[in-house]
Amino acid sequence: MAETTKAMTDQPAPGGKTVKVEFDNGIAWVTLNRPEKRNAFSPTLNREMLEVLDALEVDDRCGALILTGAGNSFSSGMDLKEYFREVDKATPVEVNRVRRESMAWQWRRLQFFPKPTIAMVNGWCFGGAFTPLVSCDLAIAADEATFGLSEINWGIIPAGNVEKAFAEKVSQSDALYYLMTGENFGGRKAAQMRLVNESVPLAQLRTYTEQLARKLLEKNPHVLSAIKLSYRRLKEMSWDVAEEYLYAKAQETYSTDPEQGRKKGMTQFLDDKSYRPGLANYSRDE
Ligand code: COA
Repeated sequence: MAETTKAMTDQPAPGGKTVKVEFDNGIAWVTLNRPEKRNAFSPTLNREMLEVLDALEVDDRCGALILTGAGNSFSSGMDLKEYFREVDKATPVEVNRVRRESMAWQWRRLQFFPKPTIAMVNGWCFGGAFTPLVSCDLAIAADEATFGLSEINWGIIPAGNVEKAFAEKVSQSDALYYLMTGENFGGRKAAQMRLVNESVPLAQLRTYTEQLARKLLEKNPHVLSAIKLSYRRLKEMSWDVAEEYLYAKAQETYSTDPEQGRKKGMTQFLDDKSYRPGLANYSRDE
């Protein structure tokens, strides 16, 4: 695996048609890049996002992924022309493929992406955009962003797991209110509902989000990955099954950890008395 990831660093950044990927010292900035269409999810973009996630999974230049949109939009959701009207004419087999690729990145790959992911909501965020938003581990919005479950306004139900994503994150009162009225809300309301972690002024959005990503980059990546993936999986488990799963996963994680964080952490706290786990991270350099 080390060979593979090392080789990737010589490669050009993935994407390029509808998705832009830029690397900055451990962060992969993944920008949905159809600003002229407010970054609507077309079948081309869906397929490209799948390729981008596949590539970044094994690329050492990506320690954390920030998903955002070009221009004044995070994403206007599914592309009404290319994903709906044009696909209406397709065969059932083609329809299935287009839907599968859409869902494949928007929740399956994103929720189980092995590295930390942050959605940075810089503007419009409608309908289908809620699925990848909720599927990122964390989300930061601009106060000025505009969110909306607009499906009711144009006569469809929020499929593509949009309803499921919204129901997962917010209370039933908020979910049904916004799903049924189609009323818009801003970044601060999104944070108040806990749809996103924080809302900050647009002028501070990039710096704030980058600082959060850098905080995650300081952690042991192997353990961070195991924490986020086990969290996603255990939500569906009973307490009994989760107990078994987490003990087994903990054992597996520390026995396969390349930097042996558990051992270092205990030695530095119990023997060297050089740090306190309740207050800081162990020194990863030693
Ligand atoms: N699908 C396809 N095209 C879209 C789109 C979408 N979801 N959202 C925007 N576009 C296109 C517009 O058709 C327009 O294309 P054109 O220049 O070829 O006419 C272009 O993007 C700009 O859109 P416009 O409406 O002029 O921009 P705006 O800044 O005035 O408004 C929005 C932005 C996001 C409020 C508005 O475009 C909108 O309501 N989009 C649909 C949002 C939605 O309901 N999404 C749910 C889909 S599941």
